[in-house]
Amino acid sequence: MQAVVLAGGFGTRLAPLTYTRPKPLLPILNKPMMQHLVEALPPHTQVILATNYKTQMIEEHFRQMGRPILVNEEPRPLGTGGATKFAEDYIDGTFLVLNSDILSSLNFRRFIQFHRDNKALATISLWPVENVQEFGVADVQPDGRITSFVEKPRREDAPSNLINAGAYCLEPEVLDYIPPDKMVSMEQEIFPKIIGEGRRFYGYPLEGFWIDVGRPASYLKANLTLMKRRDVSQVVGTGSRISGQLHQACVGRDCMVAEEAQVSSSVLYDRVTVEEGARLDICIVGEGCTVGSHARLSNVVVGDGETIDDDAHLENTAVWTRPRPEGYPDRQIGNPVKEQG
Ligand code: GTP
Repeated sequence: MQAVVLAGGFGTRLAPLTYTRPKPLLPILNKPMMQHLVEALPPHTQVILATNYKTQMIEEHFRQMGRPILVNEEPRPLGTGGATKFAEDYIDGTFLVLNSDILSSLNFRRFIQFHRDNKALATISLWPVENVQEFGVADVQPDGRITSFVEKPRREDAPSNLINAGAYCLEPEVLDYIPPDKMVSMEQEIFPKIIGEGRRFYGYPLEGFWIDVGRPASYLKANLTLMKRRDVSQVVGTGSRISGQLHQACVGRDCMVAEEAQVSSSVLYDRVTVEEGARLDICIVGEGCTVGSHARLSNVVVGDGETIDDDAHLENTAVWTRPRPEGYPDRQIGNPVKEQG
């Protein structure tokens, strides 16, 4: 079976971290988020990477891991539907389409079996939310069939509390619904068409956890959730020297946290130095950064290679002192799934 992994977004909401690496390679517990996804797939699944931003970095990572993946680079971003259509030549049967930036406990075997048992044309994973009024909510029949999506319903009008969770199991015929070489949204254009024609469109509710890793807060949550599930309060990569205190912190390789420094609810990438007495809370600090002594950082994202001065006080901000990389957009482009973050 093939799995088309959508990994072509710029990840603008996670800039400046995504100026220097594609979102699928941002680490969660020191492992790229896309690797968590690939490792959860049934063995022998052929991964087709639908990408167009920093493709070589992703390719190189999986080459080093010894995990063969097929890279299908789009000439330009085609959206979730367009990217799926662009992989058509590689599809030879029932296939998966997966957002690379969703971390969840989805059991793929059961998901695929559910799709087959229902003889569905398309099956999507569903996740329950409390704030239905912010999402497109599925109208799901008792047998799992979805008859419509209701956009941002009032709580009392909502047909369910289940939203699209970004993993799809599809029959190749779905590809016939997608026009080629165009920016197409699977969620906004193709799924409503399939449902509108009365075709067999099913929803598979997820249990466990589901995190759309689109923003710094959800990225940190993903790290903290996995730590909690593993019953650990810190993760420290090889070669790191920790003299200060860590609380709910994930530290990459070859880092140094000096005496009397405190790092809480934060992620440090590889080769980060936190000098004496510095305090970091709710921060993501990119590779090779230095945080000066007695600096105070709260809710800060620091891009790779930056230096924070001694005694600096920063709050609710992002640090990037160089020009934005050429070709990187100054705003979000194209994909409606992001509205569900
Ligand atoms: P933001 O810029 O922060 O919205 O992030 P994003 O560009 O990754 O967009 P979003 O989070 O909505 O994308 C959801 C998933 O679809 C991610 O896994 C993206 O990598 C992927 N994606 C978004 N647009 C495209 C596209 O045009 N082509 C491909 N191949 N993947 C895409």
